[in-house]
Amino acid sequence: MTRPAPEEIKSCCATAYQNDAVALLLGDSRHPGGRRLTRRLADALGLAPRERVLDVAAGTGGTALLLAREYGVEADGVDLGEASVAKAAATAAAAGAGGTVRFHAGDAERLPFDDATFDAVVCECAFCTFPDKPTAAAEIARVLRPGGRAGITDITVTGPLDERLAGLAGWVACIADARSADDYTAVLDGAGLRVTRSERHDDALITMIDMIEARLRGFKIIRPSAFTGIDLGTALQMTALARAAATRGDAGYVLMAAQK
Ligand SMILES: C[S@@+](CC[C@H](N)C(=O)[O-])C[C@H]1O[C@@H](n2cnc3c(N)ncnc32)[C@H](O)[C@@H]1O
Repeated sequence: MTRPAPEEIKSCCATAYQNDAVALLLGDSRHPGGRRLTRRLADALGLAPRERVLDVAAGTGGTALLLAREYGVEADGVDLGEASVAKAAATAAAAGAGGTVRFHAGDAERLPFDDATFDAVVCECAFCTFPDKPTAAAEIARVLRPGGRAGITDITVTGPLDERLAGLAGWVACIADARSADDYTAVLDGAGLRVTRSERHDDALITMIDMIEARLRGFKIIRPSAFTGIDLGTALQMTALARAAATRGDAGYVLMAAQK
């Protein structure tokens, strides 16, 4: 299958994650492992009060808010989806966190921040969707201060995928261009980020796929208006293909911490 153009991939992914249907399906924590794995990542990075942390591809801001509230950091989130950024900013303001949490529209491959701005950068379930991974890794390294830490959780793919998962829908589902943990390590290393921890959390991927499948089945019956025009049969088929890949061990989820 021909790979879609990079700008098409990015805009399709950002648009999809702003859809009300995705909000109903995933809630505000749009990655396997949810808040539990976000806390594990924060602990792996040793986040400390008043540190400056950037969340790359922050979605609707759940992680940046959690890190500010529970770890006392000053958090910035950046996402390509302008509606997601607006929603995240509104949520932060409503929570009274506007002083310590800020959100910005921007591309992970061209981060809108000066060099050496942050003590730590996190990126959950999004690195796999960036068409130019070496550039995104170089951008993470650039905005980190020397000695700063990067934490990534992401889908891994190590075996052959069904062709139906390789198109745009597969990119949006974060699986089409996912790589092995070794490949992510090599990309981070190439950007000057030395991996200090790598843990498998494949069970978190299976749990999330099962949750999505159960919700899709429910929505097929009650048909919320957010799903108008969405082919739930195809969505269920994609879910089954992803579940089969995860069950075979060809797809999984990894947590990685690295240091500049
Ligand atoms: C699976 S969601 C993860 C959101 C968030 N990290 C979380 O765990 O809740 C993927 C996010 O990546 C964002 N995204 C995709 N490509 C991007 C890019 N090139 N730059 C910035 N954000 C991007 C999408 O808009 C979407 O919000």
